[in-house]
Amino acid sequence: MYKLLFSVVFRRLPAESAHRLGFGLIRSVAAVPGVSWLLRRWLAPCDPVLRVQALGLDLPGPLGLAAGFDKDALGPDALGALGFAFVEAGTVTARPQPGNPRPRLFRLPGDRALINRMGFNNHGAAAAAARLRARRSRSLAVGINIGKTKSVPESEAAADYAASAELLAGLADYLVVNVSSPNTPGLRNLQAADQLRPLLTAVRETLDGVRDRHVPLLVKIAPDLADSDIDAIADLALELGVDGIIATNTTITRDHLTSDPADVEAAGAGGLSGPPVRQRALHVLRRLRARTGDRLVLVAAGGIETADDAWERIEAGATLVQAYTGFVYGGPLWPHRIHADLACRAHAAGFTSIQQAIGTSEEKSRRPH
Ligand SMILES: Cc1cc2nc3c(=O)[nH]c(=O)nc-3n(C[C@H](O)[C@H](O)[C@H](O)COP(=O)(O)O)c2cc1C
Repeated sequence: MYKLLFSVVFRRLPAESAHRLGFGLIRSVAAVPGVSWLLRRWLAPCDPVLRVQALGLDLPGPLGLAAGFDKDALGPDALGALGFAFVEAGTVTARPQPGNPRPRLFRLPGDRALINRMGFNNHGAAAAAARLRARRSRSLAVGINIGKTKSVPESEAAADYAASAELLAGLADYLVVNVSSPNTPGLRNLQAADQLRPLLTAVRETLDGVRDRHVPLLVKIAPDLADSDIDAIADLALELGVDGIIATNTTITRDHLTSDPADVEAAGAGGLSGPPVRQRALHVLRRLRARTGDRLVLVAAGGIETADDAWERIEAGATLVQAYTGFVYGGPLWPHRIHADLACRAHAAGFTSIQQAIGTSEEKSRRPH
């Protein structure tokens, strides 16, 4: 059904219009009285084997929606009703900004991939805060991802991130410092340890201003980092008491594509997501796990489109997994399917909790043959 709708309606529209239409439909359907409740009853992960305790949260499953789909926190609860265990809103910047000129989102259907250069188009942190404050129920865990306002120079980045954090901290189940989008000039330079240190320190201090609650802080990194940079970020995260790392954002490489090179060329600059980023994202995750063991919550993103992909990340050390592109190509029932398949895998492995699978591929490889 979704495949038919996708090829007949969505694929005829420019990718960003299809996104708006799809997300608008999800919100409208979920706004009909009683429908959200019904959807949750039908689609929410409910097998106890899937429950995950992480970041001080008790989540019904390990799969969440990655940042970028709901940049302005327009409908996290409607998305949650489709079966995501948590939703990450954003990237939100301190000041509203229009993002890059359109077109800025492209499909590569042959690779089930996307290329985007959205450029943090969003209504700003104050608008997101107002929407989140108006949520009727807080039962779904919502993370908030913040980035640097484009017009703010790199030297003032810490204050800009802290301004967003100030507005959003009290409303976030966790907060993510995004320094890995390829679409804001210079942003990824902030991943260098000497730049990242003041940034994370400023945001952590702001989060500590929230009374009665520890707001977990995570940092989201790119798949294109050198191994030495991954290690440096891992060490810094441990040193500063950061709670977790999200690995990874989109890639600027164009590897592992089978699409017509002319189509890839036509899309132009931007971050590539979906299966082509899978291997690289897995590598970054493994590197982080090897460096930090179980001292950080690792959240895997990048090319997860099947339960096998998700399981592989969990075995490689991820406590949680996220996806964006897999959801776009998989359709509204996709999160439910992935959770159901993951539950089957966990039962087949004889686990009583999916958390028993975390990091097991590392242990297997250490065992003598
Ligand atoms: C259209 C689009 C917009 C995105 N916007 C953001 C964003 O604003 N902030 C962010 O941290 N990641 C953003 N991402 C990256 C995703 O959150 C995710 O890290 C990346 O796409 C890899 O996962 P995937 O292969 O499952 O899509 C975006 C991705 C896409 C496709």
